[in-house]
Amino acid sequence: MSVRQSVSRATSLHGSLRVPGDKSASHRALMLSGLASGESTIVGLSPGRDVSSTSAIMILLGAQRVDEDEFVRILGPEGGLMTTASALDCGNSGTTMRLLAGLVSGVAGSHTLVGDESLSARPMDRIAVPLNLMGATVTGEGERVTAPIRIEGSTTLHGIQYDVPVASAQVKSAILFAGLVASGPSSVRERVLTRTTTEDMFRHAGLTVHSLDDAEGRLVTVSPGRPNATKWIIPGDPSQAAFFAVLGAIHDCAVLDVLNVDASPQRVGFVEVLQRMGATLSLMTSPDGVSLHAQSSELTATDVSSSEIPSVDEVPILAVAAAAASGVSAFLDMGELRLKESDRFLGSMELARSLGCRVWDEGDDFFVEGLGSATAFLPFDIDAGLDHRMVMASAVAGCAGNGCSIVGVDTVSSSYPDFFNDLSSLS
Ligand code: S3P
Repeated sequence: MSVRQSVSRATSLHGSLRVPGDKSASHRALMLSGLASGESTIVGLSPGRDVSSTSAIMILLGAQRVDEDEFVRILGPEGGLMTTASALDCGNSGTTMRLLAGLVSGVAGSHTLVGDESLSARPMDRIAVPLNLMGATVTGEGERVTAPIRIEGSTTLHGIQYDVPVASAQVKSAILFAGLVASGPSSVRERVLTRTTTEDMFRHAGLTVHSLDDAEGRLVTVSPGRPNATKWIIPGDPSQAAFFAVLGAIHDCAVLDVLNVDASPQRVGFVEVLQRMGATLSLMTSPDGVSLHAQSSELTATDVSSSEIPSVDEVPILAVAAAAASGVSAFLDMGELRLKESDRFLGSMELARSLGCRVWDEGDDFFVEGLGSATAFLPFDIDAGLDHRMVMASAVAGCAGNGCSIVGVDTVSSSYPDFFNDLSSLS
């Protein structure tokens, strides 16, 4: 199904909202709770389809789930997770496939991981290589090892020392999950610091993880162990808050607050980028958590390097900010954007071009010459493919500019099923 929806320009935008619970933390809370023995509870689990894919797989592997009004209970089997004859359907979710590959590498028996058309085109060699070195057998299709992925798991993996060749929290995390059943410690070296969600949550579950920062980046070492059943409280997803941060900044009559957002260092690089562009944007700490305040601003162009926004999830929406700024913004070293739910390198350029901007690329860099204001955006028509972030970036551009029509809006439910309701609640 590919649903088309129009978004009109909002005359003004005011109010506060809560975005869904952080998607990265939600996947990990389900996985760690399923690995533990006994009952864990999760407050703030993301309602998105990606996280539901992880949940359904954990149930197939032997965990039980009970939904209460305000939280979710997960019961991890005392004897540990077990293999199942069913294929593990990761849907549209790269985090599900890559992290679970690490997790099931440590569950004895055969596992098959499948995904939708978008996920089945994404490279899994980045996790297959280290997991095979650890003693699991991970195979897929072709040179890039695409899904379906077949894994022969073992409870006696070897610890490795692995230098991750791409900046990827998913690869780091796959190794850390597999490292839980290794015979000794496993270390991951990252040159670009990525989100520390796995390390932080492993510690919260009583596991031993050491992180050492040095001139070459960070060395993360995990010791084998079983997580404790525990209570998880998940704050709002900063990558979703980013859409409203840009919306508030580029709309000519807006004052917005996003409440209770995770503001961990490797997640909020977009805030600094927007502040550098001149946005009136701040992260404010209160007893209820961190909130993000954004209001109408005049933006000027900037250079954004991928190491500032590791995982590059916020680049499509920053390209919209660049389209509203005056001057030429440069997005540098953005090759990883091509390997997301869609080719976001081309998608971000295409979005800015359809708003009326001059755009061009050189190797892994692309450039956007802004129009000086979102009021100058052209109305546009776009196909978001199977990419939730392209849906939201397009909707923000249409809402702050002069409207748009988006094909494929249904894919927004991968991460943010209520996005369009929340967007309309502000006008
Ligand atoms: C994620 C890591 C990132 C990010 C994704 C979530 C995670 O992917 O794009 O949305 O939860 O670990 P990469 O590891 O490919 O950068």
